[in-house]
Amino acid sequence: MEVSKNPITLEEHNIPSELDNSNEIIEFIRQNKGKKTVVVQGLGFVGAVMALVCANALTEEYAVIGVDLPSEKTFWKIKSINNGIFPLTADDPKIAEFFESAKEKRNLFATYDPIAYKYADVIIVDINLDVQKEFDEKKFLKSFDVNLDGFKAAIETIGRHCREDVLILVETTVPPGTCEQVVRPIIEKELTRRGLTLKKFRLGHSYERVMPGPQYIDSIREFPRVYAGVDKCSSDAVESFLKTIIDISKCALTRLDHTNATEIAKVLENSYRALNIAFAVEWSRFAEEAGVDLYAIVNAIRDRPTHANLMYPGIGVGGYCLTKDPLLASWARKYHFGSKSDLAMSINGVSVNDQMPFFAFNRLVEVFGDISEKKVVFLGVSYRGDVGDTRYTPVEPLIELVRKTGASIVLHDPFVSFWEEQNCTIEMNINTIFSYDPDLIVISAGHSMYTKQSTINKLMSLKSSLIYDTVGLFNEEQLTILQTKHKISVLGRGDLI
Ligand SMILES: NC(=O)c1ccc[n+]([C@@H]2O[C@H](COP(=O)([O-])OP(=O)(O)OC[C@H]3O[C@@H](n4cnc5c(N)ncnc54)[C@H](O)[C@@H]3O)[C@@H](O)[C@H]2O)c1
Repeated sequence: MEVSKNPITLEEHNIPSELDNSNEIIEFIRQNKGKKTVVVQGLGFVGAVMALVCANALTEEYAVIGVDLPSEKTFWKIKSINNGIFPLTADDPKIAEFFESAKEKRNLFATYDPIAYKYADVIIVDINLDVQKEFDEKKFLKSFDVNLDGFKAAIETIGRHCREDVLILVETTVPPGTCEQVVRPIIEKELTRRGLTLKKFRLGHSYERVMPGPQYIDSIREFPRVYAGVDKCSSDAVESFLKTIIDISKCALTRLDHTNATEIAKVLENSYRALNIAFAVEWSRFAEEAGVDLYAIVNAIRDRPTHANLMYPGIGVGGYCLTKDPLLASWARKYHFGSKSDLAMSINGVSVNDQMPFFAFNRLVEVFGDISEKKVVFLGVSYRGDVGDTRYTPVEPLIELVRKTGASIVLHDPFVSFWEEQNCTIEMNINTIFSYDPDLIVISAGHSMYTKQSTINKLMSLKSSLIYDTVGLFNEEQLTILQTKHKISVLGRGDLI
């Protein structure tokens, strides 16, 4: 999955100075007469695909409007959807299928005009809510903060336009307490200001577990869900809506007592995962020092059902969620629930994970020595195997550290043609990359194409080089073959070098 390389050029953006798209919206509503309207706020990795899922709902025919901001960074997504090009390309064929079907039914429209909220029966909030991190010179997490201003502004926009009987479903990962303490008062204030009743609107929270990748659509539509409302009527309204888009014959809907609980569930889920990864870090160092293979050890332990998700060593944690969710939780504990305590273990987990690329770099230098004169190829820049998401990828700091030594660097990724955060193009053709005649090859993402026999053959046709596998990609047989020609080190394996 990748963000398609902005199919509309900046010059073609033509962001209108007057943010009035109302005629097009009225026409869209007219064309979809008789259908309920779902408005998705935020057309990012979650919202854009959620809009597709709603446009292809299971038991209801919705008119779906996606709303994003009229900024240079995001306006192209709106134009792209309306021009018939979905703004994410994914290795899930259902994405194209669902988009084609929405185009045929003409039930998906995108806009920057908040007037869209006026027509919504249901508004789904899928915008970002970021954590601001500060690091010390050793890259330890020094402090962090959560600024709710952007999120509050988004909810205010909804409140200024929405109907008094709307259902607002927050999917954004929020600091626990946000629906009750932030969203509800804003909506009530705006409805009151417009002289509307407060009795009819419904407000709930149901967090996304979406996994961009080959099961993108199914990870929304066929994946267990947790939900809650701020009161019973809201919980019932959320449940009724979810049942129209989630395939409950394949997955469960779990109702919790209150939005505080679902909000905590989301950040606990991700904190558990982040801590599990952080736990593997010091054991990787121990295994390297002790000259043993931590992968083999973890595999042996994983046979025990209670320990089946013990994590392997790795280059680090990336993506939008695991790098921030434990911090959202800790922030909320203090600022929404008045505790004097942090969630110290969870914060430490994030900090340890943030340092993983630095451990990876130190190990690289420890094993291979001075790399300043080397030509280095990185295989993979995304944060996860077979996915093209580069947000907060741990490969980025590792590349920076290698670059600082003076080494020359070339980057490959089969899923990323353009690295937005680094503003650079990425080579997608592996033959071109290998023709660069590298001295050092860093396996930095677990893309399955790198394990194919054709890639092993290509590696074997190169001159004798150094290979640094930071993700434990190769199996024993492949390692044995590669070792006949190359010098190999695998992060977390002290038995190899
Ligand atoms: N990406 C994932 O895999 C994933 C998985 C589970 C949950 N989540 C959660 O879902 C939420 C959204 O994540 P994402 O990955 O889609 O983020 P994203 O940054 O890709 O997209 C967010 C979009 O919201 C838009 N936006 C911001 N303010 C807006 C406003 N006022 N009005 C309209 N649009 C606005 C942004 O321009 C952007 O396009 C986050 O809370 C995230 O933690 C993400």
